[in-house]
Amino acid sequence: MTANELTSSDFTEASEPFSLFGTWLKEAEKSEVNDPNAVALATVDPDGMPNVRMVLLKGFDERGFVLYTNFESQKGREMLATRKAAMCFHWKSLRRQVRLRGPVEIVSDEEADEYFMSRPRGSRIGAWASKQSRPLESRFALEKAVAEYTARHAIGEIPRPDYWSGFRIRPLSIEFWHDRPFRLHDRVEFRRETPDGGWMKVRMYP
Ligand SMILES: Cc1cc2nc3c(=O)[nH]c(=O)nc-3n(C[C@H](O)[C@H](O)[C@H](O)COP(=O)(O)O)c2cc1C
Repeated sequence: MTANELTSSDFTEASEPFSLFGTWLKEAEKSEVNDPNAVALATVDPDGMPNVRMVLLKGFDERGFVLYTNFESQKGREMLATRKAAMCFHWKSLRRQVRLRGPVEIVSDEEADEYFMSRPRGSRIGAWASKQSRPLESRFALEKAVAEYTARHAIGEIPRPDYWSGFRIRPLSIEFWHDRPFRLHDRVEFRRETPDGGWMKVRMYP
């Protein structure tokens, strides 16, 4: 059965969002050309001006949805200031969308260290070399910084920079959308009042 042959009841009958999200992500891993965990991350600056860019989802469970970044980047500063964010996944191969939003928390140092250490050495060097979202005078300046940090960390472990960690979005709502003929799509939203509360399910007009 292909994704588009699934009947509406396959997901609209789910009683909670996390296992449904896990099922959809697994299906996306099989069908997407690349980066099934790529997701648009929306933040807002303290003046209320929104901002959106892609990131990679690096973990999810009942506590929430985790991404890693430079805390001095634009998104990092915005989430530190507002403690709110939203995400939107679009899996073209499945004609599905999932969006969620809620308050954000910072992952524990242990969690961030574990993920950082799992990254390739070059990516760990890159985290040191990139002053993400700040002006860069030339590509050469970046390559020079990479060479300097490579030499500095020629032997031994590369520690996680203290400005590099993860945010966890603790969703207050998660909406699942699946394409149906004639734009009569299926939409189901799970909502709750607090990040630890129980879910209420609402089916919505497309
Ligand atoms: C598919 C994809 C995945 C990305 N994943 C990440 C990520 O996980 N973390 C990150 O900091 N930037 C990631 N980026 C780069 C961001 O989109 C963005 O350019 C960068 O983080 C700076 O954003 P900011 O200035 O809004 O902070 C990714 C870009 C693409 C296209």
